[in-house]
Amino acid sequence: MKLHIADMLRGQGQHLSFHTPGHKRAGGDITELSYSDNLYAPHGVLAAAERDIAEILGADASFLLTDGSTAGVYSMLFAAREAGAKRVAVPAFSHPSVGHACHVLGLALEIIPQTARFGVPEQPALSALEEGLKRADALLLTSPDYYGFFPPLAQIRALCTREKKPFLVDGAHGSHLHFCDLYAGKYADMWVDGVHKSLPAMTQGAVVSAKGEWAERLARAVKFFRTTSPSYPIMASVEYAVKYPRNTALEEASEAFKCGHGCLKNADWTKILYPVGKRGDEVLRALEAQGIYPEFFDGNYLLFYLSPATRGEDLDRLGEALAAFSRAEISEDAPVGAIPIYREDA
Ligand SMILES: Cc1ncc(COP(=O)(O)O)c(C=O)c1O
Repeated sequence: MKLHIADMLRGQGQHLSFHTPGHKRAGGDITELSYSDNLYAPHGVLAAAERDIAEILGADASFLLTDGSTAGVYSMLFAAREAGAKRVAVPAFSHPSVGHACHVLGLALEIIPQTARFGVPEQPALSALEEGLKRADALLLTSPDYYGFFPPLAQIRALCTREKKPFLVDGAHGSHLHFCDLYAGKYADMWVDGVHKSLPAMTQGAVVSAKGEWAERLARAVKFFRTTSPSYPIMASVEYAVKYPRNTALEEASEAFKCGHGCLKNADWTKILYPVGKRGDEVLRALEAQGIYPEFFDGNYLLFYLSPATRGEDLDRLGEALAAFSRAEISEDAPVGAIPIYREDA
């Protein structure tokens, strides 16, 4: 598939730069010029890239973000507020950007309790979501979460349709899923794809998308939160990453790895959770000494985060390194997760 932004960057001629950025090197890192389009009102390569991305993601409109999923979370909540929402139901383990956006936008939070199992937060039960949504005007869930678990998306879609309330998804960890039924975009009214986390895009590259009547509201909302100096290398990498082919061989290798190494059973091949319990720091140091760096150690698990660009031989190398350590039992009463969550008092 054509890469509109990267092709434009490659096709540039030499020119004298009497424009920003101040490094004055015309090349990949350029600003919005007559030929490079304008993200605020796109009509050229950026519009073409956003159209392709929307088509791939099954959206009516998709918007490139160079400020991470955070800007997408703010934009979705702004759009919901513009449509009349005053209170938003969110699970307790939502990312801080959700609470921060609600705080800035004056939206009240309806916190849906989450329990823990095997040392990780469980997605809220449907009954808890129903209860939470009764007291709110919109629902924002994280799918998948950092640990590779999903809420019951089809049932939640039906619930939100019945209640006539918008369903928003923070998919910061789910942009690799657009090929399959667990993809947020198959269910949500608005959703964020944290493209830089699980697809081969540069850090901060993300997309926020919408369907139906939400597309126009979201188009207005992103204008409030996007930078007016978007990075072309990041935008080009997002378009490239969304068009990156599925890697089914690696998906299968990851599932086999999880079974073979006694990892936590989850539903997302990009997140391998190896239980190390109290020995975590020791295992982490030993892995780092071999040049192997996981995403995090949360006190119970090491999370190894894959993407379609992970090489099969690197997964093999990880397996060999882990073979030197026995997996540890997880204590149910150990503190849950080292991931940041929003605290109203922080
Ligand atoms: C669940 C979740 N949502 C949103 C974000 C924010 O994403 P970004 O860092 O791309 O702004 C993160 C970042 O870790 C996250 O884990």
